[in-house]
Amino acid sequence: MSLSTQKALLLRSKGAPFELTTRPIPSPGPGQVLIKNVAVALNPVDKYIQKFGFIVDAYGYPALAGSDGAGDIVEVGEGVSGRWVAGDKVLYQSFWAQDRATFQEYTLADAVRIAKIPENLTYEQAATVPLGFSTAAVGLYAPFAPRGGAGLTPPWEEGGRGKYAGKPALVIGGASSVGQFALQLLKLSGFSPIITTASAHNADYCKIAGATHFIDYHARPYASLAASISQITTEPLELIYDAISSPETMVASWNILAPGGTLGVVLQPSVAVPGESDGKRLVWIFAVINDGDHMQFGAEFYKHLSGMLEMGDIKPNRIELLKGGLEGIPDGVERMLSISGVKLIARVDETP
Ligand SMILES: NC(=O)c1ccc[n+]([C@@H]2O[C@H](COP(=O)([O-])OP(=O)(O)OC[C@H]3O[C@@H](n4cnc5c(N)ncnc54)[C@H](OP(=O)(O)O)[C@@H]3O)[C@@H](O)[C@H]2O)c1
Repeated sequence: MSLSTQKALLLRSKGAPFELTTRPIPSPGPGQVLIKNVAVALNPVDKYIQKFGFIVDAYGYPALAGSDGAGDIVEVGEGVSGRWVAGDKVLYQSFWAQDRATFQEYTLADAVRIAKIPENLTYEQAATVPLGFSTAAVGLYAPFAPRGGAGLTPPWEEGGRGKYAGKPALVIGGASSVGQFALQLLKLSGFSPIITTASAHNADYCKIAGATHFIDYHARPYASLAASISQITTEPLELIYDAISSPETMVASWNILAPGGTLGVVLQPSVAVPGESDGKRLVWIFAVINDGDHMQFGAEFYKHLSGMLEMGDIKPNRIELLKGGLEGIPDGVERMLSISGVKLIARVDETP
């Protein structure tokens, strides 16, 4: 491999297996940085991209996946010098244009939406943060819109910390990557009680993240969610973040949502909720921050992310390290839907 090419995991067509091959190393344009990835994380969307060609129409084949990266800046584009320099350790969320995806050695990122990796985090831990955090943050704090967020005041803004003290919130799927960040952000926002659902063995993981009350969804199915919640609080439940968004969790959440409340879902609603009655609001979260509506919101929270990680206000997910660097990713993507309470990580420099 010459210095102008890099190892990358390509997808040649919809449903085709990942192929470890080489492609050119891009150069950063104005406002961009080139990052040499050390650790990258896997997300369910990688499976949707590989199996169903999700989002690929916009960028074409051969396609690349990978939304989360942590690594070192190796080159800065015009207008960036001073803010970031070669050698800075950063974490960032990608998007899926070929030069911007993370399942390769080098990725371009926008300088305004990268964060310094604080000393207390490894590259592997840092790579667990970007997409999960932004999905939680967009859903809770982006301006209200059916494809936006709940419009709450973020904890990084003046008056945001603790603002919602005494108000209950529910997170469906607190052991998921997104659910973990939703729990942590709700805690910073002051919500209480913070109730979550997960498997029993993940109860402590959820409580460390901020859950005050835990429901094992195997022992207490979603059909009995109203009864489970009523044993915890009788206050109106005006905020539910459904990090799973299956038909079952979505309907159960909508049914217990208080009048005027907001339900955030992370997948395209697959069932119709019965009319948006009593001022109930449904928000379908789409956490793309490097394109479209949330670019400014993303730039804003990226100013605060490193500090929140350094202070321990936001903690990374637990990790499972895949073997073989990029070569280990296809197996991880296959196992993706059966993992529990961990984020799958590949060390790019371990790629053969
Ligand atoms: N809209 C967007 O922009 C966006 C962005 C990122 C992710 N997403 C979507 O958000 C979802 C979560 O992503 P993720 O990366 O957080 O997933 P993940 O970490 O892979 O989620 C795995 C966890 O889901 C939990 N889970 C599964 N079924 C559950 C249920 N019925 N009730 C409660 N928990 C359940 C499991 O918890 P236990 O092991 O405790 O059972 C497991 O630990 C995915 O569908 C993903 O595609 C959307």
